[in-house]
Amino acid sequence: MTIKNDLILRAARGEKTERTPVWLMRQAGRILPEYREVRAKMGGFKELVETPEFACEVTIQPVDILGVDAAIIFSDILVIPEAMGLPYQMIEAKGPWFEKTIKSEDDIKQLRVAKPEDLHYVIDAIKLTKKELNGRVPLIGFAGAPWTIFAYMIEGSGSKTFSKAKKFLYTQPVLAHQLLQKITDSTINYLKGQIVAGADMLQLFDSWAGVLSPEQYKEFSLKYISQICNAITEVPFTVFAKDAHFARVEMGKLSCDTIGLDWTMDIAESRRLIGENKTLQGNIDPCLLYSDYDVIKKEAIKMLKAFGPHRHIANLGHGLYPDLEKDKVKCFVDTVKEFRF
Ligand code: CP3
Repeated sequence: MTIKNDLILRAARGEKTERTPVWLMRQAGRILPEYREVRAKMGGFKELVETPEFACEVTIQPVDILGVDAAIIFSDILVIPEAMGLPYQMIEAKGPWFEKTIKSEDDIKQLRVAKPEDLHYVIDAIKLTKKELNGRVPLIGFAGAPWTIFAYMIEGSGSKTFSKAKKFLYTQPVLAHQLLQKITDSTINYLKGQIVAGADMLQLFDSWAGVLSPEQYKEFSLKYISQICNAITEVPFTVFAKDAHFARVEMGKLSCDTIGLDWTMDIAESRRLIGENKTLQGNIDPCLLYSDYDVIKKEAIKMLKAFGPHRHIANLGHGLYPDLEKDKVKCFVDTVKEFRF
């Protein structure tokens, strides 16, 4: 099916676009009253993720309401540990929690390498969303990067330091590599399944890149991200590694199309370090959207000019916060869409 608004796909491939495309991480979620309404009808977050009809509905909401140039399938990065054998719960106002965690070689041996069939609910949600979008905008699929998934599988919940996961890297490096490889194989299978189901573009989230040293990041994260980039050749691919300042030169060498930047990364410096052959995505501080409308407009235009007219996909430097006002978020999106170089 041809896609009517393919700005994001063209920007990712380095082609010229009439204007800078825009979407937002966590665009489907609690900032939209329409999301909260669907969510209230369900038993919880997981039921929403696991019911294709409702996942499809909340995926399309930001396209209708905010006017973004792409949809991102409503799911979570934690579906992979679950498909491998570690179920999670999403605890209201607290976040993810795993009953079982990985402690030993035996625990790793017992994990399955996930197959797309294990994640049939995401695959079905992608198929349904593609049909319902009817080519209006591209659909982005995603997964967590192996290091970030590893961190949750060892830690069992969120953490400020992820010190249990880091302890595992220092004290059991051989086992850490075994587990990271199993996650990587699962992630490649899963992303390939998303492509077959219709995902037009994919993004990898390495949310906890910033807790590792540059050396550890190369050994325990980039190595596996690189395997995934090499395996995904069918659709444009984005790598977003939050706080990974130290890895920008290496990220420029990955076989992917787009690198996501967070707001702490200087735009000109990032371009210099990453090189000219990648599209850059980002990077407004989500907290900017608490400001007055005129400040949001001014800062959005400043960001657009700093990235320049080519190889940029406008976004935030991380996900939207649930208490942001929808109209301010829309002001950011509209400013990008109205701006011309
Ligand atoms: O971006 C989108 O709109 C698509 C959906 C999406 C969600 N999670 C939905 C979600 C995506 C791409 C994610 C990725 C994700 N999940 C990441 C990587 C990106 C990042 O934020 O760094 C991580 C680390 C997770 C794990 C996770 N999921 C946490 C830590 C939490 C709890 C924190 C919170 O915001 O409540 C979640 C829950 C979650 N995932 C929500 C949503 C909309 C909120 C739950 C709800 O609505 O009840």
